[in-house]
Amino acid sequence: MKEITETVLVTGASSGIGLELAKCFAAEKSNLILTARNRDALEKLATQLRAEQGISVEIVIADLAQPESPQNIFRELQGRGTVVDVLVNNAGFGLHGEFAELPLRRQMEIVQVNVAALVELTGLFLPEMRRRNRGGILNVGSVAGFLPGPHMAVYYASKAFVTSFSEALHEELRGTGVTVTNLCPGPTETNFSQTARSHRSRKVSAEKMSAAEVARIGHYDFRRKAHFSLPGAGNKILSIAPKFLPRAVIRRIVGRYNSLK
Ligand SMILES: NC(=O)c1ccc[n+]([C@@H]2O[C@H](COP(=O)([O-])OP(=O)(O)OC[C@H]3O[C@@H](n4cnc5c(N)ncnc54)[C@H](OP(=O)(O)O)[C@@H]3O)[C@@H](O)[C@H]2O)c1
Repeated sequence: MKEITETVLVTGASSGIGLELAKCFAAEKSNLILTARNRDALEKLATQLRAEQGISVEIVIADLAQPESPQNIFRELQGRGTVVDVLVNNAGFGLHGEFAELPLRRQMEIVQVNVAALVELTGLFLPEMRRRNRGGILNVGSVAGFLPGPHMAVYYASKAFVTSFSEALHEELRGTGVTVTNLCPGPTETNFSQTARSHRSRKVSAEKMSAAEVARIGHYDFRRKAHFSLPGAGNKILSIAPKFLPRAVIRRIVGRYNSLK
């Protein structure tokens, strides 16, 4: 693998896709800043990557459901004199259930983590990338962003925002040295389902890709400056389904799938 000396900030690096993305950037000798809430998991990963790759790995503990966290992360890194070349906006979660029945406060946290924190971190780190005319942003959306999502309404809508926002920035930055890629995984083997269904169990399980494979493809597409990264043939089909099926059919299929127990 080509060696690249950059500093990469990864949100949600304590598990799943974020942890695997951190490993991909570490393998090309990028220095890392890992952030999430789970200190033990971040310290374990940092120790492993320092030993295996001989890179610098810093940790910032932050809860992105708190509106002040993006500013705190930015200030903390400024204070350490750390310049971020690549921002990976990966932290996110969803909740299964009917909108009116799920706790509103938790649903507002989805908006805060998946949307508001992603926009604010981008707004804080992008201007310096533009000034230096180099760097990039990898936003983790979802195939859910291409579909209406009954029984997971806020999550799907949050990922639609990520896709629209990322695509617009990609176009704004065309011709500059800064790139924006939107990684849109489908069902992936991580802690995501457990978090989304913490309030009830589910017997239905979809075919899932591994987090390592999703991260490998996302990282590859980011490096080739793609605007979208859609890992897996099934997910590519899902992303174009709205072009071929009536919207009413799609929302019924997705609603039925999401409400299966
Ligand atoms: N798994 C899937 O099927 C799937 C499909 C499409 C898209 N995605 C997207 O992939 C991304 C990563 O999710 P994953 O599947 O890897 O799930 P995961 O294993 O649950 O990882 C989620 C990551 O986000 C972090 N996070 C969650 N809430 C946070 C908060 N309040 N503050 C800071 N960090 C927070 C978690 O860290 P802490 O808990 O340590 O804070 C964790 O590192 C998400 O954006 C998700 O929407 C997942």
